[in-house]
Amino acid sequence: MPSQSPQWQVTCRHPLIGAEVRGVSLRLPLDAQTLGWLHSLWMKHLVLIFPDQSISDEEHIAFGRHFGELEIHPSVSHRSSTNKEIYRVSNVGEDGSIIEERASAWQYINLSWLWHTDSSFRQIPSKGSILHGIETTTNGGHTKFANMYAAYEDLSSEQKHALEGLKVIHDHDFIIKQSKELSSREDKGSYVQLPPVSHPLVQRHPITGRPSLFLSPHTMVCIEGMPEASSRKLLDELIAHAIQPKYVYRHIWRNHDVIMWDNRCTMHSVEPFDNNSIRRIMHRVTLEGEAAPVAA
Ligand code: SIN
Repeated sequence: MPSQSPQWQVTCRHPLIGAEVRGVSLRLPLDAQTLGWLHSLWMKHLVLIFPDQSISDEEHIAFGRHFGELEIHPSVSHRSSTNKEIYRVSNVGEDGSIIEERASAWQYINLSWLWHTDSSFRQIPSKGSILHGIETTTNGGHTKFANMYAAYEDLSSEQKHALEGLKVIHDHDFIIKQSKELSSREDKGSYVQLPPVSHPLVQRHPITGRPSLFLSPHTMVCIEGMPEASSRKLLDELIAHAIQPKYVYRHIWRNHDVIMWDNRCTMHSVEPFDNNSIRRIMHRVTLEGEAAPVAA
């Protein structure tokens, strides 16, 4: 199968991660061949950017379902009231006004600015996410994506050896602990309770077979069986290594960009913006993973 359709224009946005794809409509049902082309492009570039895709939430959901089942986000107040599969990564409520800073929903969404991998807190983390920029800003709010294959490949053999067999405890509650304000409150928001889970620090991608670091700083509590200080030090060193600009594509949004990324070999973060005055509305569908991560 060729790696791309002849009608599409595919342009790399970074030497290691991210390609823009033009010439495909995410509105239309995809036949098996088109889906195969898209899937191979996705596996090759890790992050696909589709500009000018003014899709409805229903079309967004239908596009996501081509790639598998969709998750329902544990944060109840960030689910769309009309389509529970849509996670509203937004500082604007469904009533159209900016959410007040004192609201737990405002506090929680700021935590999505931290580096993370979607749903790393689940026993079977998400395989990928598809984010639609509905109301975007160029005044901050840029999303950064890191290539975790490359970050792993560049480690020395000694470093790789030291990571062999290590497992990390991930916990959704740890996200809330990242906010002094939110964690000190009685009302932290409404979330489906999920138990902590353990994932290999180095995992093998189920499709490409390539090893990568599996980091999600906002859910990583500690490395199993390692003293807390050394565990924190090692995790912080790996995070600092993985977010070097050489591994990172930084996306400046335009309205109706749709970005699809692979959570099994990337992580992402959002650059801060003034979310008390600037509106930013992003809708995400999150693709369920098919199996728990396997150690590389
Ligand atoms: C996310 O963490 O899935 C959202 C990223 C963004 O808001 O750009």
